[in-house]
Amino acid sequence: MQAEYSLLLKQAEALLSSETDFIANAANLSALIFNNVARINWAGFYFLQADELVLGPFSGQVACSRIAVGAGVCGTAFAKQKTLLVADVHQFAGHIACDVASSSEVVVPFKSAQLSGVLDIDSPEKNRFTKIDQQFFQQMVAIYLKACS
Ligand code: SME
Repeated sequence: MQAEYSLLLKQAEALLSSETDFIANAANLSALIFNNVARINWAGFYFLQADELVLGPFSGQVACSRIAVGAGVCGTAFAKQKTLLVADVHQFAGHIACDVASSSEVVVPFKSAQLSGVLDIDSPEKNRFTKIDQQFFQQMVAIYLKACS
């Protein structure tokens, strides 16, 4: 893990440790990621409501409000409960283009009795994300879920 990412994880822990509200924590975590991770153009949350993912707090351009479970990168990651790292979203069947500038994407799903949804990070560059980035965002979600529990 890069030093920069280790520091951001510590900052996230400090930022969220005194708050349990899932909206407040999602808002702050989106802003922390968006303003400190290079070469991204969107960072935010979708939360499960019935059988749809509904837009939550984010930083970046306006986005689709609702995504069906199983649809697009977000809905597929949630349905499979598996992190998806997509090098070129334009090659992903069913990709939902909220912003045509987005080219690669990482989606980390989470599901518990209290809180289910995804963390979605987009980049305007193809192949922007590595396994290290994936691991970093998964750790961010773990910090988020712990703070909200
Ligand atoms: N591209 C996503 C939709 C969400 S936005 O990028 C913010 C998808 O295919 O699920």
